[in-house]
Amino acid sequence: MKTAKYNQQLISLDQYNREDYQKLFDDGKKGMLTCSVCGGPVRLYLGIKDKPHFYHRLSSKGDCSEQNEFSPSAPPSEEVEYIERNGFRIPKARSITAEAEKEEKFIFPREVKIPLPFNPLPPAKPGVKLNYLKQLKEAAIHFDGNQEKAVVSTDGPLLILAGAGSGKTRVLTARTAFMIEEKKIDPGSIMLVTFTAKAAAEMKKRIALYPGMSPAKVNQLIAGTFHSIFYRILCFHDRENWSSDKLMKKEWQREQILKEAGRKLQLDEKEFAYDLALQQIGLWKNTMIMPREVKPESPWEEKVALLYKDYEAAKDRQKLFDFDDMLLGCYKLFKEKPEILESYQNRFQYFLIDEFQDINKVQYELMKMLSDKHGNVCAVGDDDQSIYSFRGSDPAYLFNFKSDFKNIELILLNQNYRSPHEIVETANTLISANLTRHEKEMRLSFLVNARQ
Ligand SMILES: Nc1ncnc2c1ncn2[C@@H]1O[C@H](COP(=O)(O)OP(=O)(O)OP(=O)(O)O)[C@@H](O)[C@H]1O
Ligand SMILES: [Mg+2]
Repeated sequence: MKTAKYNQQLISLDQYNREDYQKLFDDGKKGMLTCSVCGGPVRLYLGIKDKPHFYHRLSSKGDCSEQNEFSPSAPPSEEVEYIERNGFRIPKARSITAEAEKEEKFIFPREVKIPLPFNPLPPAKPGVKLNYLKQLKEAAIHFDGNQEKAVVSTDGPLLILAGAGSGKTRVLTARTAFMIEEKKIDPGSIMLVTFTAKAAAEMKKRIALYPGMSPAKVNQLIAGTFHSIFYRILCFHDRENWSSDKLMKKEWQREQILKEAGRKLQLDEKEFAYDLALQQIGLWKNTMIMPREVKPESPWEEKVALLYKDYEAAKDRQKLFDFDDMLLGCYKLFKEKPEILESYQNRFQYFLIDEFQDINKVQYELMKMLSDKHGNVCAVGDDDQSIYSFRGSDPAYLFNFKSDFKNIELILLNQNYRSPHEIVETANTLISANLTRHEKEMRLSFLVNARQ
């Protein structure tokens, strides 16, 4: 017999992976195989005398005839033809180029999950009064209802919570163009922040493509990463202490200082993970925990805390600084010189921050300080996409935003414009297992000829 029941499934040896025969054999001995016809116990024959087959454990019982689900579709077994030659009976020759019988792996049936019915979000309301929105539409730049709301809500704190591919960056860039063109807001009063230089350049490129925008207008925007923007501010006020030749750009430069400190503590260079220690120090700095405030939670952290003290002292002696110092330095500058802070509060009236889930404490505090006067902060993020927790970023700031900024408007974008339905469904299933997250089930949207 070629078929049997195993784990309540009907299996056929023809379709079963040969590598798994041994397991079948063993499980047969444990009584886990039964006859697909009579239900009696069977075992798998694995020998050289015969082809593998199932047989009844009780030898007195013959094979049951295989009238089961596999039989009708099973390929007819090939009859071996013989010829007589010189008194010998030999099988008839067959071409060796004939295609070998493909051995297919048996796939257990899976429960089919019926995807959610597809309900596209309604398009933005017809009869838009705003000129610039019309121009965007004419340029084939469309928005769904929630996206449009996010584009035109320019004043006050706005939190846009959205999933991947839901048009977050598109909304931010269109909102910037809308503010400049429709609301006639001075581009020099808009700060547009993101986390990588590449993303910042991409945003500027997208903005320049919108109707009415010109490179001159885009260049007036203060757009960049937190580091680039705040470093410019620091340099402007204290060029001598923050000149770029004092920046430790490379990891090895920082490691060198750390290793010198480690030698004093007799830490073996080969055994102690200096790279991880540097990461830990970065995390403390970005969460604004100064060397004397560290509360080590393990013997390893105790050592790193000592290194942290020495690292900072050595840096100060040599008048060097690292990337994390730029943000802390700016924070210190604003705290120590409120008049400087005020001048920037007056200058920057609108803040737009992409990938807000990646913000860390010092960045968050800086944004809070700067926006304190006008309160026009638009934070766009997806707590499911946080990737920089190892250096202190925390999607909890997305949640804090709701309490730290008064009268916030919350807009959800849950329409995915980038990926096919299966990917969106699978991603939803996976991330729904996260314990702390904003609920924002993603839907799929279909689009044709979308423009950035
Ligand atoms: N309403 C819309 N109509 C047509 N295309 C859209 C719409 N909204 C967004 N898109 C397109 O969907 C794609 C994803 O948009 P975008 O990059 O802005 O998403 P995102 O939410 O910022 O993604 P990520 O999570 O990767 O940062 C882009 O190609 C964008 O042009
Ligand atoms: Mg984006």
